[in-house]
Amino acid sequence: MTSTSVLEGYRKAITALCAKVAVFIRSQVDLVQQNDIEVKDENSLVSFVDKEAERLIVEALTQLTPEAGFITEEDTEDQRNKALTWIIDPLDGTTNFLMGIPHFSISIALIEDGVTTLGIVYEVMLDIAYTAIKGVGAWEGKRPLQLRPTDNINEAIIVTGFPYRRGLNIDASLEVLKFCVVHCRGIRRLGSAALDLAYVAAGKVDLYYENALNIWDLAAGALLITEAGGIVTDYHNSQNYLKNGSIIGGSAAFHKEIISVIQKAHQI
Ligand code: IPD
Ligand code: CA
Ligand code: CA
Repeated sequence: MTSTSVLEGYRKAITALCAKVAVFIRSQVDLVQQNDIEVKDENSLVSFVDKEAERLIVEALTQLTPEAGFITEEDTEDQRNKALTWIIDPLDGTTNFLMGIPHFSISIALIEDGVTTLGIVYEVMLDIAYTAIKGVGAWEGKRPLQLRPTDNINEAIIVTGFPYRRGLNIDASLEVLKFCVVHCRGIRRLGSAALDLAYVAAGKVDLYYENALNIWDLAAGALLITEAGGIVTDYHNSQNYLKNGSIIGGSAAFHKEIISVIQKAHQI
């Protein structure tokens, strides 16, 4: 495993890298045109901005760790059989970006022999870095992160998202949503899974759940939550969220309550 002091160096270097890539992404907010948008899959959009951001990140990380592999959303690189692997979503919340909604992020995680040891989620429009090192802690800038200390579900703000594939698990999704609308203080669909997880870690919201996600949406944000004292599992209450793409992250009390609703609704 990479030592804490080396991970600390990566954390600083990647925070600076994200700040640079964020300048590029912000410079394109008003320039990106309707005909720059490509539809990758049902409701899944991409533009040259995602691709150029990914190119900048991969180039810099190749210099930082020439021995590492990559799993990246826009397929710049795909080398999975290395001891160190960078997991990259260069622009999480592409639909928001393309619509001019100022809520999107860059997500970068380092996985070592299957364990996430470093996670960075960078909120592009606000220049905020949410970072975590496994076993050491999680921070927003320099402020250590902690989940919001409440265990009353009536006071919870829940964040979720819905699969791009229209109608996937729709009845189960609506059942869980109904529970949250009836029992919780509020519910949000913010549109960037990585940032949703970071907001839970930072105590800005209380719990996040979603399914049909990819490893690059989740790897960095999940580490932020566990390092901020929270619980992260998949819908089966196991640790396989990076493989199967379903996730619930929050405090132990809220996780317990919402996973039972999710499992009942999804007949797990
Ligand atoms: C998407 C966002 C969104 C989530 C989608 C993801 P993208 O990532 O994280 O919040 O609901 O499932 O695919 O496409 O904007 O990188
Ligand atoms: Ca994404
Ligand atoms: Ca993306």
